[in-house]
Amino acid sequence: MTGNYRQPEVNIGLVGHVDHGKTTLVQALSGEWTDQHSEEMKRGISIRLGYADATFRRCPGMDEPECYTVDEECENGEESEPVRTVSFVDAPGHETLMATMLSGASMMDGAVLIVAANEPVPQAQTAEHLMALDIIGIENIVIAQNKVDLVDAETARNNYEQIQEFVEGTVAEDAPVVPISAGQEVNMDLLMQAIEEAIPTPERDPDADARMQVARSFDINRPGTTFEDLMGGVLGGSLVEGRLQKGDELELRPGRQVEEGGQTEYQEIQTTVRSLQAGGEIVDEVGPGGLLGVGTGLDPSLTKGDSLAGQIAGPPGSLPPTWHSFTMDVELLDRLVGGEDIEEISTGEPLMLTVGTSTTVGAVSSAREGEAEVNLKRPVCAEVGAKIAINRRVGTRWRLIGVGTLTE
Ligand code: GTP
Repeated sequence: MTGNYRQPEVNIGLVGHVDHGKTTLVQALSGEWTDQHSEEMKRGISIRLGYADATFRRCPGMDEPECYTVDEECENGEESEPVRTVSFVDAPGHETLMATMLSGASMMDGAVLIVAANEPVPQAQTAEHLMALDIIGIENIVIAQNKVDLVDAETARNNYEQIQEFVEGTVAEDAPVVPISAGQEVNMDLLMQAIEEAIPTPERDPDADARMQVARSFDINRPGTTFEDLMGGVLGGSLVEGRLQKGDELELRPGRQVEEGGQTEYQEIQTTVRSLQAGGEIVDEVGPGGLLGVGTGLDPSLTKGDSLAGQIAGPPGSLPPTWHSFTMDVELLDRLVGGEDIEEISTGEPLMLTVGTSTTVGAVSSAREGEAEVNLKRPVCAEVGAKIAINRRVGTRWRLIGVGTLTE
């Protein structure tokens, strides 16, 4: 562990239309990989999680916003002081990946909505991602008006006004809009200041039972690794509450599918924490907040290819119930992004439901106004009161139609 290690304490989603500059912004804010020969595990996890950590720093003796930087050395030659380390959760802009965006959104404490200044507002996923933030209840938002280097001052102003008009009446109504160029690294300090002010670190209880939302899972072994060198399965996700230590026992729910007496059922999985990675470092203990990787004692074939994504992990016996079917209160949107009306949910129709990081398909067994009962193809582990993003098949794709609250 290096002296500069700081655990990420907040997850910030990067959302917006394809090609508006999410990846470029993360690169601008997280700087270079300092550790070129990082161990297999670290490299494997960071790449596969699709996330990056950034430490925002302040230069002593300088005014806001100029004092904000990601560099250790300030322009005035002084050494900067770390303020906060954040994990960026990437949300792919492609429309087919809306489910990924929704499950990522359950781990976001706030979000940066990136809008390119050189295109009319809103583009399709700009609107859909904002709607998703609204539905999932992510209220701390900063809007980054990107690529201002590509437009003249008047176009930038017009685009700024379009953004203001577009967010009126939405959860982002009061969000600061910061003009930036991620490509040219212009106004990064202003953006960091806006993030510091608009997206605080939520209060979490480090003494509660550990509760991890699993967003990814993988096998980090190279093909052909011999049995003695084989490393256990790895989980990636976010610790919402509590702490995890090397050696802790973990239970995963809903667990894995097993066949018993001709019946298919789900059984919890038990394992131990063998290694922990947070903030790009291998550590012995992590607290809540930020994204992390957990090396376990599980057979890597169990964790391969995200097969445990959507599970909840925590101390054995502490996890919420597993649901094979549930009833939810339903609140439908007024209309789809794009304008079409949304019809009531009907009995028999299939819905795609995102609960936490889990995405599952359910068939509606009974629907009344404002309420629906669903039978799930794959069970989910969730508390009563959990929020559910509801998607319906429209044409060839799943579209967000409303939000549910798990009641029983
Ligand atoms: P997806 O992950 O595919 O949704 O795209 P993205 O939002 O991550 O966009 P990405 O960062 O890949 O940027 C798309 C293109 O825009 C790339 O060619 C970038 O070089 C370019 N780009 C991003 N930011 C800027 C900017 O501030 N100015 C200019 N001129 N180009 C930019």
